[in-house]
Amino acid sequence: MIARTTTIVLAFSVLAISGAIVACSPSVVAEQQAELPAPSAAHGKQVWSENCARCHLMRDPKDLTNHEWPAVIRHMRVRANLSGQDERDMLELFIKAE
Ligand code: HEC
Repeated sequence: MIARTTTIVLAFSVLAISGAIVACSPSVVAEQQAELPAPSAAHGKQVWSENCARCHLMRDPKDLTNHEWPAVIRHMRVRANLSGQDERDMLELFIKAE
């Protein structure tokens, strides 16, 4: 009985490990990156009003430098529990063309 349970556990471990290897292969990563939608400043604005506005007034992109915005938005993204796409959309809104 114990040997049978061990075999089942081992079989699942092998499946889990091979699944992880497939998920990390370069072609799968490239496919996932290709599927990212283009960042949208309009959605960034919506993300702000739905998530950030309860603590902050709307900010001007000029309030922080292009170097400061990504660090602050990452920090606030974690605080507000937002997605990576929400973060990219807000960067589109706040990062100024140079
Ligand atoms: C729960 C309240 C809360 C939410 C939600 C929140 N913030 Fe903040 N934020 C703070 C506090 C408090 C600080 C001061 C620094 C700290 O404690 O991290 C801060 C700091 C900042 C700063 C730097 C200080 C400044 O005002 O220049 C920026 C910019 C900022 N937040 C943007 C955002 C963005 C973008 C979001 C939405 C993703 C967001 N915040 C969501 C509370 C919040």
